Amino acid sequence: PASSGGPGVLAGRRVLVSAGGTQEPLDPVRFLGNRSSGKQGVALAAAARDAGAEVTLVAAHVEVPLPAGVRVLRVGTAEELRSALVEETGNADVVLMAAAVADFRPAERLGTKIKKRADGDDPVIELVRNPDILAELVTLRNREKRSQLILGFAAETGDGAGSVLDYARQKLERKGCDLLVVNHVGESKVFGQDENSVQILSRTASEMQHVEGSKNTVAQAIILRVAAELGV
Ligand code: CTP
Ligand code: CA
Repeated sequence: PASSGGPGVLAGRRVLVSAGGTQEPLDPVRFLGNRSSGKQGVALAAAARDAGAEVTLVAAHVEVPLPAGVRVLRVGTAEELRSALVEETGNADVVLMAAAVADFRPAERLGTKIKKRADGDDPVIELVRNPDILAELVTLRNREKRSQLILGFAAETGDGAGSVLDYARQKLERKGCDLLVVNHVGESKVFGQDENSVQILSRTASEMQHVEGSKNTVAQAIILRVAAELGV
């Protein structure tokens, strides 16, 4: 559509998108999850498709319908998400990492349901850290010297020690991705809502781009920015 900057800005490009929240099982009936609805990632996949790209969407838990016209791979845990992305990244010109990856998972995944015990001893759940998938995709790209644009998301809150943008800049450096889309969280915004307000930071430019509107509007702006970075 013309509103996304004219058809075809990503024609012929292969775009890999991750979306939704991972779920980390504790036992056969329980998991640790997060409030991501997957809306922004799904909107991105649809916007990339509308811009002419060949899109693969790796979807964790999403609460919105999956878009038509894109190849979809379903995953549950962060480890499954990681495997799918590591497998697919070599075929992608652009990676858009919108998934809400659980930072931690239960150290043990029990084969049987946790039961209440007669002695009143309640369980304590030990957590271990999940791999940083975005950082790994950047490392793989650099090692293999591929020409690939990698975009991450960050949900940040400011505090006494730094502003949202201070933390976002640090995150961009730490992850090594090319673009970082920053959500200000803390207000009731973002999770499950249709409206979004983001800033797009680039590793190579100091100015940032502010985008506000529906998640579809934000997705279209991100796609246009990606196209601009690719020199389209
Ligand atoms: N991400 C990832 N793997 C993880 C955690 C996050 O690939 N284990 C990705 C997210 O998909 C997102 C970006 O990294 O694109 C930033 O996520 P965020 O949660 O803001 O960053 P973290 O590195 O987890 O830092 P924090 O401790 O602030 O949560
Ligand atoms: Ca995190």
